[in-house]
Amino acid sequence: MQFPHTRKRRLRKNQSIRNLAAEHTLTANDLIWPVFILDGFNGSEQIASMPGVSRMSVDLLIDKLEGLVTKGLNAVALFPVVDKAFKSDDASEAWNPEGLVQKAVKSLKSKFPELLVITDVALDPYTSHGQDGIINDQGEILNDVTIRALVMQAQSHADAGADIVAPSDMMDGRIGEIREAFENKKRHNTAILAYSAKYASVFYGPFRDAVGSAANLGKSSKETYQMNPANAREAIDEINMDIEEGADMIMIKPGMPYLDIIKTAKEYFNVPICAYQVSGEYAMLQSAINNGFLDEKGAIMESLLCFKRAGCDAILTYYADRVINWLSDT
Ligand code: PBG
Repeated sequence: MQFPHTRKRRLRKNQSIRNLAAEHTLTANDLIWPVFILDGFNGSEQIASMPGVSRMSVDLLIDKLEGLVTKGLNAVALFPVVDKAFKSDDASEAWNPEGLVQKAVKSLKSKFPELLVITDVALDPYTSHGQDGIINDQGEILNDVTIRALVMQAQSHADAGADIVAPSDMMDGRIGEIREAFENKKRHNTAILAYSAKYASVFYGPFRDAVGSAANLGKSSKETYQMNPANAREAIDEINMDIEEGADMIMIKPGMPYLDIIKTAKEYFNVPICAYQVSGEYAMLQSAINNGFLDEKGAIMESLLCFKRAGCDAILTYYADRVINWLSDT
């Protein structure tokens, strides 16, 4: 490859040739919209640490989804904002068949049968201490006891009609137990999206404000179960275990600072790979956008295209609604 015979700029000359030469594209098919849901009707609250994102009651969410589903949105991921009165040490509200998530799944599936509804399997919205698992008197998170609760939670989501359950708790062995419970209860068509490589990240801060678990968690961390941001090879083990236990798709989280993990996972595994552009990534981008330091559409589209380049099949992003609208305008 010697200049002047090779001039890489020839393939960048205009938009048409750049389009032909593009290795990756972002479409509506790549996006999953995470949403914060509230109990009741006609409720909407701005989230201070995520400017532009609101918690919504399910009736308002349905109004928003009408247009988005028509424009090609395939999936939503539900995150409940649970009233303090329903939080407890054993998190039993998590598997209440009439709980907020379970009711929301039923309404969304009856309104939009084709829209995939993904539910989060983890106890943090329901525990009085804000951890994803059940704790003992010393504050240790009990792996196997927690799994029993997670199985009941996942089962209740599947019973409500969830298409995909997404365990984000990082307990060891939970995917196998959930898969077995589904097989035994004739829920073999419910898919599992495993948050396999979920790191103990500071970038979840705004999410914890959004669902109201930050205050409960206080100064405690999730470092005894979520992965150490220092580790990459360990992610391969985590993903491998979840696939062997029966995961259909896997997730890497956070996204932008962890693109190396996505790329490695793509090389090793053949299941669809999802990544989560988490609340802190949203907050960073949106703060810069709101200050006029970054161009809104440009920054958002580039950030998501880079997930595709790294090897992602689907991306959870709080920008999914905006992006779907932009894509359908062009
Ligand atoms: C909890 C959960 C978290 C997120 C998704 N599910 C937070 C945590 O682990 O504390 C974070 C998502 C985000 O930051 O956008 N199981």
